[in-house]
Amino acid sequence: MILMKDIIKEGNPILRTKAEDVSIPLSSSDEKALKDMIEYLVSSQNDDLAKKYGLRPGVGLAAEQIGLNKKMLVILAYDELDNLHFYPMVNPKLVSYSDELTYLDTGEGCLSVDREVKGYVHRAKRVSVDTYLYDNGKLSHVRLRLKNYIAVVFQHEYDHLNGILFVDRINQENPFYVPNNSTPVKFPVDEKK
Ligand code: NI
Repeated sequence: MILMKDIIKEGNPILRTKAEDVSIPLSSSDEKALKDMIEYLVSSQNDDLAKKYGLRPGVGLAAEQIGLNKKMLVILAYDELDNLHFYPMVNPKLVSYSDELTYLDTGEGCLSVDREVKGYVHRAKRVSVDTYLYDNGKLSHVRLRLKNYIAVVFQHEYDHLNGILFVDRINQENPFYVPNNSTPVKFPVDEKK
């Protein structure tokens, strides 16, 4: 089971590398890693388990954050309408994105960043993603259209696969700058970062 001590923290060069394509079908070790990532997010959002194991709640995790330089990420998050989005992705590719931007008015957080960072991260309001989705030992290739909060979570995790952290995307001179084409996401009621 992945614990906080297993999560790679800011400053470690692994977080600055570009992830490599994953071989399909998944090797048993890649599949194990993906299952561990899923387990972390599920456990971290369960109050009892999070407390018992000292897990910081997360809505997304990228393989680089557990020291694996591969294109895998998991999203487990509720959108603004309280619909659950559960996407264990293998080899995700961002294929298109809107000019319209959005941002979280609380700023973003990251399991790999242990300090509080103030400022907005502006991201595409809508994205299309080609990816394999993992479900019970099977992979299916799909195109997902994501928007608002879930699009933000996806782009945060996708950045990890390119060695980018959210702190890199905050305007240094004016952290709370809002461009004309960006509007805030309405934050989910029961948000877990
Ligand atoms: Ni992160």
